[in-house]
Amino acid sequence: MNPRERIFVAIDTTDMEEAKFLATSVRKYVGGIKLGIKFHNINGLNGVRKIADDIPLFLDLKYHDIPNTVAGAVRSAVTISRPKIINIHASGGLAMMLAAVEANLEAANKIGIIPPLMIAVTVLTSINDDDLAMIGQDYPSYIQVKRLALLAKRSGCDGVVCSPHEIDILRLNCGAGFSLIVPGIRPSDLIRDDQKRKMTPEAAIAAGADYLIIGRPITQAPNPAAAAQLISDKLIS
Ligand code: C5P
Repeated sequence: MNPRERIFVAIDTTDMEEAKFLATSVRKYVGGIKLGIKFHNINGLNGVRKIADDIPLFLDLKYHDIPNTVAGAVRSAVTISRPKIINIHASGGLAMMLAAVEANLEAANKIGIIPPLMIAVTVLTSINDDDLAMIGQDYPSYIQVKRLALLAKRSGCDGVVCSPHEIDILRLNCGAGFSLIVPGIRPSDLIRDDQKRKMTPEAAIAAGADYLIIGRPITQAPNPAAAAQLISDKLIS
C-alpha cells in the first residue's frame, strides 16, 4: 500500500460545502476521508455519499444497539454510502458484532462491492480508568481494550480503532492481519489540544498502525491541501 493511502482525513463539520471543499482539497494526497455523526445527523447517508463520491470513505457512525437493529443499520449504510471502512462498538457484544459482520458481507455482495472493513471501537480514548470504574469496570483500560479487541476478532471484525499507545499490545495479541486504525495523530509533539495520547504519523506507522485518522492538523490548516501533502510526503520519504 502506498503510505499516503493510510491517511484518512476526519472531516468534522455539519456543512456540506465545507466538507466538499475539504474532500476535494485533500483527495490527491490521502487515502480517504472520515465522516461521522456530526455530518451524518444533518446530511444523512445520501449527503455522505455526495461528499465521498470519488474518494474512499470511513463511515464513522459507531453503531451500538441490539443485533437485529445494528444489522439493518449496517445494511443500509453499506448500500447507500458504499464505505471502505465502517464501524460498531465492540461493547455491543459478540452477537451484535456477528450480526454486523454478516450484514456487511451480505449487503456488499448484493451490490457487488468489496466488503467494507468492519472495525470495532473498544474503549473510547476520552475514557480513562476512573470513568471505566464508574461504569463498573474496575480494571485498567488496556485490559478492557485487549478483551474487546479479541472479542471483535472472534466475531469476524477486521480490526479496531485504538490509541497510538495501544498499537503494540494489540498487534501482539491480535496478529498481523488485524487492522489498527489510529486517531490522536499530530505532525508535531508541540501541538497542544484535547488529544492527550498522541503520536506523529511516522511514529504511528513505525509502531504498526494500518490507517491514521487525522483531522484538525489538516482541516484547520490555512491550506488543507498543502498540510495533507506535507504529512503524506513525510510518510513516503
Ligand atoms: O482533529 P483530530 O485529529 O483530533 O480528529 C480525530 C478524529 O478521530 C475525530 O473525528 C475524533 O472524533 C476521532 N476519534 C478520536 N479518538 C477516538 C475515536 C475517534 O479522536 N478514540
